[in-house]
Amino acid sequence: NMGRKFLVGGNWKCNGTTEEVKKIVTTLNEAEVPPEDVVEVVVSPPFVFLTLVKSLLRSDFHIAAQNCWVRKGGAFTGEVRLNIVNQTYIAVEFWSKLREFHIVMALLVMTLILAEMLVNLGIPYVILGHSERRLLLRESNDFVGDKVAYALSQGLKVIACVDRISDWTNVVVAYEPVWAIGTGKVATPTQAQEVHSVLRKWLHANVSAEVAASTRIIYGGSVNGANCRELAAQPDVDGFLVGGASLKGCHKTTKVFQA
Ligand code: G3P
Repeated sequence: NMGRKFLVGGNWKCNGTTEEVKKIVTTLNEAEVPPEDVVEVVVSPPFVFLTLVKSLLRSDFHIAAQNCWVRKGGAFTGEVRLNIVNQTYIAVEFWSKLREFHIVMALLVMTLILAEMLVNLGIPYVILGHSERRLLLRESNDFVGDKVAYALSQGLKVIACVDRISDWTNVVVAYEPVWAIGTGKVATPTQAQEVHSVLRKWLHANVSAEVAASTRIIYGGSVNGANCRELAAQPDVDGFLVGGASLKGCHKTTKVFQA
């Protein structure tokens, strides 16, 4: 795969208790995985567990937040995630005159996890534009594009599926067919390769040959220890974003890392 470092990400989504998180981290810490320069391991806990995981996780594994906000913070007392009433209130009272309609829409699904705070906590990665946020929270391409640009400008690395990036150095593209997410229906290696190669060709045509050759394109959707090896063998599959199997301990997760 042209020297692109394989990336395996565990997206825990909105799951876990302190005890469960500690258990998974212990297993990860004990896992035998290929060296850091061969496989990059990234775990993505819910926001409230970021610092806990950061304090316990081995240092050769990296951490990703599952989202961050599109701009600076400010006067939003108490908010990590605004509730519906607040969102509507703020949108109507303060923001309805904004011309940038997608920002107004975004406020309806506002989450104030600041890129700056992630950097300050030493969290290097953020996942942006996950289809669950696009579908359930109506995040648009434009909004995701703005968030990616802002996160990159603050020095975060982004695992993203987006349309507007000027510097691709710190971007990993994740392809997750919606029908494969959490369904147990994994894409066949041929299906995944087909889409990954289209994405790489798009990068080639629209960005540059260098970016196409160096950008990692990872697959997500019902990846587990049993199916990952065959997918990983495809020339344009540069890693995984694992949901369910990254929570179900352990030996499954470890298998994905090793394969
Ligand atoms: O971000 C990874 C995720 O959406 C895939 O979920 O449970 O199908 O591995 P899962």
